[in-house]
Amino acid sequence: MTLTEPTTTPKTTGPAEPAAPAEAILLVGGKGTRLRPLTVNTPKPMVPAAGVPFLTHQLARARAAGVEHIVLATSYLAEVFEPYFGDGSDLGLHLEYVTEAEPLGTGGAIRNVASRLRSGPDDPVLVFNGDILTGLDIGALLDVHRTSGADVSLHLSRVEDPRAFGLVPTDADGRVTAFLEKPQTPEEIVTDQINAGAYVFRRSVIDTIPAGRPVSVERETFPDLLAAGAHLQGMVDSTYWLDLGTPQAFVRGSADLVLGTAPSPAVPGRPGEYLVMPGAEVAPDAKLSGGTVVSPGAVVAPGARLHATAVLPGARIEADARITDSYIGPAAVIGARTTLTGVVVGDTAHIGPDNELTPGARIWCNTTLPARSIRFSSDE
Ligand code: GTP
Repeated sequence: MTLTEPTTTPKTTGPAEPAAPAEAILLVGGKGTRLRPLTVNTPKPMVPAAGVPFLTHQLARARAAGVEHIVLATSYLAEVFEPYFGDGSDLGLHLEYVTEAEPLGTGGAIRNVASRLRSGPDDPVLVFNGDILTGLDIGALLDVHRTSGADVSLHLSRVEDPRAFGLVPTDADGRVTAFLEKPQTPEEIVTDQINAGAYVFRRSVIDTIPAGRPVSVERETFPDLLAAGAHLQGMVDSTYWLDLGTPQAFVRGSADLVLGTAPSPAVPGRPGEYLVMPGAEVAPDAKLSGGTVVSPGAVVAPGARLHATAVLPGARIEADARITDSYIGPAAVIGARTTLTGVVVGDTAHIGPDNELTPGARIWCNTTLPARSIRFSSDE
């Protein structure tokens, strides 16, 4: 007698149910102190990068990943978001705004918008920090969340120097094993994986965050969930990732968007060495390179050379100025032959001719520097 394998008719399952588009929370209420003076009059997510408020890039990327409903958690300078983005329909989105009377921190802000979510208790809700420029595959993060059955899934990025970030080690299955904030000693640097500021929460987990008081999601919510035995899953990748928290990073991010190194559907032009926006005036012999953007109403005079630099609306760069890796705020003036390298110039500041400012200099809004008042060259 021969035994034959029992034949089973495969079950015909129709096409998979399309998952409802996930909704998202964007955290945009921080004070952005490290980015001053860019954030003196403008909240960090509204500071322009590659010609449009940085938040536009995040909204456009979320939309491209299928997200339709986004709740913006605002606090600092909250009043500027809605007049600019309105109901979001220009971007194909439905936007809602929730403003905290007092800043509630990252976790408190997430909890504070819970009543605006439409998701069921087990549905995924995306949460994004409002100052991260990344090529994250949002769909892949949602897939990791669904397939792992996690309570919270986190995007983790590998960085060379993790000291300024929160470390998130994982086990062989990608399950988070600890949260280590800003390690100081070599022994504390147990991984190069950092919290990259994009999460998927099971909706019901958001409802467990304490309401009405400041909560840090990084320092309180995640460690508490881990201690309580919750399943936190990491998705590690090495895609483009930049925290735009500092002026140097912001300048880099804007240039990378113009160059096309950082992906965004919202850059108002083709990738290239420079982006000159309608209404900007650039002298024919001025030289723009390295992802420079010149915004509407800005003027670049003859002989000026700008590399990896953002020139904001109404700013004026006078003849033969040399500007590298810098951010020139709205209506600021840079005098003739002045050299700036790695400098941030606040709104309406006026730097007279023949100055030389070196990396890290920050010129506050409305400041005036007379001609030849600062020079570091040894040739004088
Ligand atoms: P710094 O003051 O320079 O550290 O910047 P920040 O205030 O933006 O803080 P951080 O970079 O740690 O914030 C991470 C993200 O959370 C950013 O997108 C902030 O806008 C946001 N965020 C931080 N604190 C709050 C808050 O109290 N309320 C809300 N709604 N968002 C916040």
